[in-house]
Amino acid sequence: MTEFSRTTHSPEETEALAANLAGALHGGTLLLLSGELGAGKSCFTRGLLRGLNAPPDVTVTSPTYVLQHVYRGGRLTVYHIDAYRLRGGADEFEASGLEECLNDAGGIVCMEWPELAGASQPREPRIEIAIEHEAWTERSFTFRAFGAAAEDALRVLDVPTGI
Ligand SMILES: Nc1ncnc2c1ncn2[C@@H]1O[C@H](COP(=O)(O)OP(=O)(O)O)[C@@H](O)[C@H]1O
Ligand SMILES: [Mg+2]
Repeated sequence: MTEFSRTTHSPEETEALAANLAGALHGGTLLLLSGELGAGKSCFTRGLLRGLNAPPDVTVTSPTYVLQHVYRGGRLTVYHIDAYRLRGGADEFEASGLEECLNDAGGIVCMEWPELAGASQPREPRIEIAIEHEAWTERSFTFRAFGAAAEDALRVLDVPTGI
C-alpha cells in the first residue's frame, strides 16, 4: 500500500491534482472518493475527466439522483457512481450491474460515498481518496493505493507538477 497526502487551496488546484493523477491511471482502476457534501468529490472527478482528455462538452453534475454517469471519448471511459443511491448494500450493488463497469479494462470507476456501497467493491487496483474540508477553500487529500498498477499511478503525484 502506498500513501500520499496533498492540500489544495482552490477548486482549480483540485482539478489540476486530479488531472495529473488521471494521466497515470490504468484501465480497470477503482477510485473511491470519500468526504462530506461539498468536500470536492465532483470537482476532483471533473479534473479526472480533463486529464483523460474527455470531450470538452462533458460536464460533471452530481449523480445523486441517477445511478451513474458514463463519460466516453477520453483515454479511458469514466463510470461515475454515487453510492448514496446504493444504500441497500452489496446485493443491490451487484444486482445493479455496476460490477460490469469494474470489469471494463478500458475504463475506470469513480465512486462517491463508497462507505455506503457495501462490501463488494474493495478490489485492486484501487485508490482510496479521503477529502477533508479544512477551511473555506482548503481541502486535504489523502490517497491510498492498493495493487501495483494503482501504486504506480500514485507515484506521479509524488513529483512536483508546477501547479
Ligand atoms: N480546494 C478546493 N477543492 C475543491 N473544491 C473546492 C475547493 N475550495 C472550494 N471548493 C468548492 O467546494 C465545492 C465542492 O463541491 P463538489 O465538488 O460538488 O463536492 P462533493 O461532490 O464532494 O459534494 C465547490 O463549490 C467548490 O467550488
Ligand atoms: Mg458530488
